[in-house]
Amino acid sequence: MSSNILEVKNLKTTFSSRKTSFNAVDGISFHVAKGETLGIVGESGCGKSVTSLSIMGLVKPPGTVSGDKIDFNGVNLLKLSKKEMRNLRGSKMGMIFQEPMTSLNPVYSVGDQIGESLKIHKKLKGKVLKEKVVDLLKQVGIPRPDEIYHNYPHQLSGGMRQRVMIAIAMACDPKLIIADEPTTALDVTIQAQILELMKDLQSKKGMSMILITHDLGVVSEVCDRLVVMYAGKVVETGPVKEVLRNPSHPYTKGLLASLPKKGHKEKRLNFIQGQVPAPINWGNGCRFADRCPYVINECHKSIPALVKVSDSQESACHLAVEGGERVNNDLIETAR
Ligand SMILES: Nc1ncnc2c1ncn2[C@@H]1O[C@H](COP(=O)(O)OP(=O)(O)O)[C@@H](O)[C@H]1O
Ligand SMILES: [Mg+2]
Repeated sequence: MSSNILEVKNLKTTFSSRKTSFNAVDGISFHVAKGETLGIVGESGCGKSVTSLSIMGLVKPPGTVSGDKIDFNGVNLLKLSKKEMRNLRGSKMGMIFQEPMTSLNPVYSVGDQIGESLKIHKKLKGKVLKEKVVDLLKQVGIPRPDEIYHNYPHQLSGGMRQRVMIAIAMACDPKLIIADEPTTALDVTIQAQILELMKDLQSKKGMSMILITHDLGVVSEVCDRLVVMYAGKVVETGPVKEVLRNPSHPYTKGLLASLPKKGHKEKRLNFIQGQVPAPINWGNGCRFADRCPYVINECHKSIPALVKVSDSQESACHLAVEGGERVNNDLIETAR
């Protein structure tokens, strides 16, 4: 048995129109170990959501998903039919999205919506079903669960709605939960509570989790390992503690430098100048080259491969070398 619940190898998600064709996700590989929380970070437009939709089989035509494999618990999801994927979602794989209001159905009570997958996948009904739903409401910290059971989504606050989403995602005891910016739409204090809840449930149930966020601060609170994405590619991976202590890729360094310092409320905005380039402007070199303070000639010519920089950390930068110095000024002087 593999120690990984998920292994993604060379995943490509392509969007084509008559005029253009590009890989929003461009040959990425990563894994999630059993019981682990993996963070996927990167600015808006880097391909994080497309990655999660690809794993869940939710990319809509004309988008196409290809690659070597998406191995989930020993099954290659790239080979499953639509029906088999539908069965898997909501039972073995749970999802939590950024905006609970758009994922919840406004005309059904929260109790009915949480019960839905239990009805379908676990064949529960009647009193047993209701008890299980009330228990789930309790587990996600919703007060007066018997009463809230009958409420509709619009009667709840944003934080409570996100708790309902978490209850739905967890209802059938999935092996993996994919949460895409689950706290981005919430107030800061509520954000912290929801993250705490997810962390707590994840460890209690021994589930694996992918937490997608643009916020490195969130990652440092909750995740074990980290995948940093930039313009459809993975640019750095490693254990969160190591990557945050010793980031290898200039993009990760930039993200880290943009975090607010402890005790300072203001975000240090725009530490990395410019924006993530649109796919039509990707060119042949490193996609971060135009924003990179360490750029050398080679960066405009070829895409750097992901290489090991330590036992557990990888970086896709022309200046990254195994076990050696990271991108620092000496190295840059030598490279120039
Ligand atoms: N359905 C789609 N059709 C065409 N392009 C898309 C579609 N969905 C996403 N994209 C493009 O794919 C890239 C990655 O998007 P996304 O995964 O949503 O980024 P992130 O979640 O990291 O902010 C962006 O350039 C976006 O415009
Ligand atoms: Mg997104």
